[in-house]
Amino acid sequence: MKTLLLSLLCVFVWSQHTEGFTDQQVTLGQNVTLSCEFKCKAAIWFVIKSSARPVMLLRTFGSEEADYYDEKFRNKYSEGSRSQLIINNVTADDLGTYYCIKAGWALQVSDGIRLDTGI
Ligand SMILES: *[C@@H]1O[C@H](CO)[C@@H](O)[C@H](O)[C@H]1NC(C)=O
Ligand SMILES: *[C@@H]1O[C@H](CO)[C@@H](O)[C@H](O)[C@H]1NC(C)=O
Repeated sequence: MKTLLLSLLCVFVWSQHTEGFTDQQVTLGQNVTLSCEFKCKAAIWFVIKSSARPVMLLRTFGSEEADYYDEKFRNKYSEGSRSQLIINNVTADDLGTYYCIKAGWALQVSDGIRLDTGI
């Protein structure tokens, strides 16, 4: 029974990973709002650009101001409603795949949101 449960879990996790990404069209110079699929108030956003390591951006709480992992992100990112991430004035340097994490004992990572300029 335990084995069956485990294999079901793996199938579930595996099939989640096959979805993987959603693409979001952006226009350089605009502000872009990314929605966290978990729609919870407390979330953590990070980004992966090309082959670099993930970069932690900010943590939302819903009830209080977001915490920034780096003070210089304050001008770039802000928090929308329901833990949305708002990127101000998107530039080519911001292109990458954004993820949100539902915090808690079992961290859940969302599918990636891949920014695409359509070029
Ligand atoms: C983007 O957001 C900034 C800061 O909130 C605002 O000042 C600016 O007018 C917005 N730009 C556009 C194109 O909506
Ligand atoms: C947006 O970013 C570009 C490139 O960094 C910059 O030249 C421009 O002044 C910025 N626009 C605003 C409204 O901040």
